[in-house]
Amino acid sequence: MISLKEVLKKYPKKEEYLIEILLEFQTSKKNHYISSEDVSTISEYLDIPESQICSVISFYTLLSMTPKGKYVVQVCHDVPCFVNDATNIYEKLVELLGVSDGETTPDSLFTLEITECLGCCNVAPAMRINNEVYTSLTPAKIETIINDLRGEVK
Ligand code: FES
Repeated sequence: MISLKEVLKKYPKKEEYLIEILLEFQTSKKNHYISSEDVSTISEYLDIPESQICSVISFYTLLSMTPKGKYVVQVCHDVPCFVNDATNIYEKLVELLGVSDGETTPDSLFTLEITECLGCCNVAPAMRINNEVYTSLTPAKIETIINDLRGEVK
């Protein structure tokens, strides 16, 4: 994991870099979130109010101030995915993980989220896990992906 100070060093002290800073730092953290201490540090560095940073975090679905699991599973539920069985994909994930939208598994391994278009509607249904996008999903494919990820941490 890269520290917030190391991330900040890479960017000029300009407000226009706020989203890039937030995304890079959050992605590097094991539990994928920006804490209130992080907000204070960024606020000081960019010389912008903490409230403004919190508004940006709450506006962008990719950003969070709540700790998440090691793997953030985002299932697309926009129309092209919806008409291509996204509901069954979501239900399979609920069955496998034992959590529903917005929840994290008790072992902090997975957070499940319903999300908007991931930009690959031509190969729907789709989901993203951290930075990787999975397409043309089926319940069987989902089971393999989740079992593989569980296997990685054993
Ligand atoms: S609608 Fe699901 S990827 Fe675009």
